[in-house]
Amino acid sequence: MNIDVFTLFPEWFAWFASQRHVANVLAGGSRLECVNPREHTPLSGGQVDDTPFGGGAGMVLRVDVLECALRARYGVDPVELRERRRVIALAPGGRVLDESLVEELAGESELTLLCGRYEGFDERIIEHFASDVVSIGRYVLSGGELAAMVVCDAVLRKLPGALGDERSAAEESFSVALDGNPEYPHYTRPAEHRGWRVPDVLLSGHHAQIERWRREQSRDRGERLRAPGQL
Ligand code: 6GU
Repeated sequence: MNIDVFTLFPEWFAWFASQRHVANVLAGGSRLECVNPREHTPLSGGQVDDTPFGGGAGMVLRVDVLECALRARYGVDPVELRERRRVIALAPGGRVLDESLVEELAGESELTLLCGRYEGFDERIIEHFASDVVSIGRYVLSGGELAAMVVCDAVLRKLPGALGDERSAAEESFSVALDGNPEYPHYTRPAEHRGWRVPDVLLSGHHAQIERWRREQSRDRGERLRAPGQL
């Protein structure tokens, strides 16, 4: 998979890309590259944002600047780009990222992530250049970068080679293998700590019983998660 991130803070992603599970996927042929709109702005002094029409606090990423950056990267009118690849604007009011959206994005061969800063994007960026608007939850971050990293992390770990053991991705929380339920609890040594014992079934060596117990735990957790006012 090739992911391009449009960000005013590319150095954040250098750190991210150096983390082991990300580095492993990238070593397997995926790419994560940043484009800094500041390097493509036609405005003087590296200007990329501006004060909002109608007044108000903060700065807004300019549509003309982002158009230049997208054209420089892809060599086409960005209005057409979104017909060819997912162009995802990260904004707090977008579609909330969940496991099914992650799966959907992991099936793409190319992704473009647009990070707004300060007060976000000129709305025309979203209207004309983006194919999707994605949020990571109903709270406000100071920019889209952390959200873009969350998307990249969740998507890249779905790809082959990201995890040491391929089973760990198949049978994790919210996976099809677990009927969309959270994962069952895990335990490791010691078998007892301060009187807190690991469930006997896990020490029993009965694989069928262990399997059944794990499914039950996973299903119970799912029910608790769905029950109103619980957890
Ligand atoms: Cl995608 N962007 C910002 N700025 N804040 C957020 C978010 C995105 N998702 C949740 N909060």
